[in-house]
Formats: sequence, structure tokens, C-alpha cells
Amino acid sequence: MLRLIKHRRFKTFLFLGVTTVLIVLLLGIPKSSHTAMTSLRSLAQNREIVIGAAVAINPLRNEPVYREVLAREFSSLTAENVMKFRFLHPERDRYDFTDADTLVTFAEDNNMKVRGHTLVWHLELPQWLTEGNFTRQQLLQILRDHIYTVVGHYRGKVFAWDVVNEGIGDNNQLRDTIWLKVIGPEYIDLAFRWAHEADPKARLFYNNYGGEGLGEKSDAIYNLVRGMVERGVPIHGVGLQMHVGLNNAPPTADVAANIQRFAALGLDVHITEMDVKIQDGTGTQAERFAAQAKIYRDMLGVCLSKRNCKAFVLWGFTDKHSWIPWFTKKPDAALIFDRFYRPKPAYNALREVLMQQR
Ligand code: XIL
Repeated sequence: MLRLIKHRRFKTFLFLGVTTVLIVLLLGIPKSSHTAMTSLRSLAQNREIVIGAAVAINPLRNEPVYREVLAREFSSLTAENVMKFRFLHPERDRYDFTDADTLVTFAEDNNMKVRGHTLVWHLELPQWLTEGNFTRQQLLQILRDHIYTVVGHYRGKVFAWDVVNEGIGDNNQLRDTIWLKVIGPEYIDLAFRWAHEADPKARLFYNNYGGEGLGEKSDAIYNLVRGMVERGVPIHGVGLQMHVGLNNAPPTADVAANIQRFAALGLDVHITEMDVKIQDGTGTQAERFAAQAKIYRDMLGVCLSKRNCKAFVLWGFTDKHSWIPWFTKKPDAALIFDRFYRPKPAYNALREVLMQQR
């Protein structure tokens, strides 16, 4: 008799337990875990690719939904601006890491990686630097100090750096910047060597726009980095910015071939700043969004098809905060979430590619 009661009690206990678990599963967890499990970042993780977005500091501070979508969908973030020279190094003897640290802390809290952008560029330089009339020796010292300090500060926290950004100009020659003028072409090798000394584990990238497919720009980039590899410069990859539009996206076969020739040099590729302008397209908004989705789909598809293409990063994620309308002085909608953080066809296209069988 006693045994039976025990037995019955056990059964009731078991029944109640299982029912509770089922109810919890059906009502509560599935909703959130459904979104989490099919987010871009979790799908990307299955495909062993990093999916990232550039992040602007103001919405990160002020908009909960911005933070929520960012952390849910992306496994990496890039500082859209606050790691650039003039933000981090406002005076010759003063660095200010406040904003950049906020971003890195957000990444840490949400288990995201950080791409560092950027150590050496011709834009976003502070006046003290551009108007300082420094000698070659002084500028070498300034650049080395900047790289040591910044890369050192984020040692172990930034997994990849855009060491030199846009060093090749629109004439496909080395761009005529303060760095080239005062230091000479060796500023590029030096920047990589110093960055490597400051964080031997960070992956170091040369980043550029307009050289995603094949052509003169892309050849110029290829020749530059090949020379660096031959000289034993610690370069680990090439960043293809991928700021494109409905009418000028490079053919996927060209992008594939370009990524492949970097593989042959032992270099990784990151797609670093993708967005797709729709202002030059034709047709209704729905048609433009569909065409835009196809470009996003194709480019992620190419990246997934090449083993050395290891990160796919967008220059923002919501049309509410995109640099394109500011840059082109025309309205646009170049990203994968609309102004209200609703997923656009491009978002679904990226998810579909990530879910495809290899
Ligand atoms: C852009 C930012 O998005 C803007 O907010 C800023 O005003 C200018 O710079 N290539 C790059 C990025 O490498 O750093 C640029 O970012 C876009 C083009």
C-alpha cells in the first residue's frame, strides 16, 4: 500500500513536472529562442563566418532597440567613427578612449567581436596633426606612438584591425596623403609592423573601396599587398569595403576570383563595409528592395564559397542611421533593416543564404 502511494505520488509529481516544462516551453522560451536561433549571428556561427555591423555611438547610447537588434543579429561590431585618429587622439599628448571603450564594452557584454577601424587614414585627422608641419622623424614618432597606444589599449579585445585604410587613391596609385608626403611609401609597412608589435595576435588588414571585383583598382591593391607579403610584412588580410549600388555591384565571379587570388597569397578577406544604395535604381520601392536583396545575397554567397573569406560586415544595419544619405546628399535606404528596425528583403536574403546547404 505504502509503495503504491509513493508510486502514485511519484506519478503525479512526474506528470506535473512534465506539464510545467511543456507549458513553459510552449508559451515562453520558444518565442525568444526562435528569434535567437534563426538570427543572422547564430546562422552565421553555424557557417563559421563572422557577421558584423558598423556602430554609431549616439544610437548605441540612446536607443534600446538599436542595442537590441545589434546584439541579436551580429557577432561583430566596427566603430563607424570613434576609433578614427581624431576621435582617439584629439591632442598630441592626449588620447580619449571614452566612446570607443563604450563600444568595446557593449561588444564584450554581448559576446561580440570587435573590428578596429582604422589606424592610418587620410581623413578624420586632428588639426594638430594636419597643421603641425612635422618633420619626417616627428611624424614617424607620432604614428608609432598612436599605433602602439591604440592597439596596445585594445590588445586582446580587437580581433582584427584595418591598419591602413584607402591607401590607394582613385588614380590607382598610392594616395597623396600626409603619410605618403612626409614619411614616404614605407609608412604602410611600418604601420603594420608596429601594430603587430603592439598586439601579435590581432589580424591585420589593408582596407579599401572600389577593388572588390577585378580591374585596375583591384590590381593595384593586389600588387600592394603582394609586395608586403613578399617583404615579410605582418599583413593577414584584405578588407573589401563593398559600398555598392543597384547599378554598379561587381560581378560575383570577379569578386570570387579576387578573393581567390588573396587566398593564394595566404591572405584572408573580410567584407568590411557593405551597403547597397538604391537611389540610382529604377522601379518601385519594392522592386528596388528586391534588387538590393539580390546583391546582398550574391555577395554573402561569394564570401561563403571561399574559405579565406571570414567576415561579412555591413556599414550600419538600419536605414535610420546610414551614412549614405549624408554622403550622397540624397535620400536612400541602403541597409537591411528599415528606419523602424523592421527587416527588409535584404535581411531575409542574408538569412536564406546562411541557411542554404553547402
Ligand atoms: C564614414 C562614416 O560612416 C561617416 O559617419 C563619417 O562621417 C565619414 O566616414 N569608408 C570608410 C569609413 O572606411 O570609415 C567611412 O565611414 C565610409 C567610407
